[in-house]
Amino acid sequence: MHRIIYKSTAEGEIDKETFRDILYTSVQMNRKHGITGALIATRKYYLQFLEGEPEVVEKTYSSICKDSRHKDIKLIASRSVRKALFSQWRMRGFGLFDLNLQTEKRLKEKYGEEDGSIYLPEDESGALAMFEDVEMIDPS
Ligand SMILES: Cc1cc2nc3c(=O)[nH]c(=O)nc-3n(C[C@H](O)[C@H](O)[C@H](O)COP(=O)(O)O)c2cc1C
Repeated sequence: MHRIIYKSTAEGEIDKETFRDILYTSVQMNRKHGITGALIATRKYYLQFLEGEPEVVEKTYSSICKDSRHKDIKLIASRSVRKALFSQWRMRGFGLFDLNLQTEKRLKEKYGEEDGSIYLPEDESGALAMFEDVEMIDPS
């Protein structure tokens, strides 16, 4: 089992509709390819986790890299893992757009801010910690 984590900057602002469209295609494609994962988004940034067979994950990642809906793609981790974190989810989406003020404040205190949104971590342990936090809040 291989896992890739990356962060990217959206081309334009991410609204609910854009996010929904991306998730919809991802779920269809990932079902075909046996990929699972999660996608976290703020208004400006994406943080994605992809898991599956190494060749398939690499291939999907390289199509994602060519997608004009985002840029400045930073690879955070690409490695084999023993256990899937997202095995139930073809692509689980967490849009951190309209969280309640208290949750938003808490996450900003913990992770910091970028462009007025919650800062999405650029290192593996930070990214995994954020996934655990948003999973607990489940804003989707
Ligand atoms: C932020 C973001 C996340 C994406 N996640 C996935 C994904 O998990 N799986 C997937 O197949 N495509 C994903 N896509 C869409 C791909 O970039 C691409 O449009 C899709 O794989 C079709 O590629 P193709 O036209 O080369 O067949 C994502 C796109 C963006 C912008």
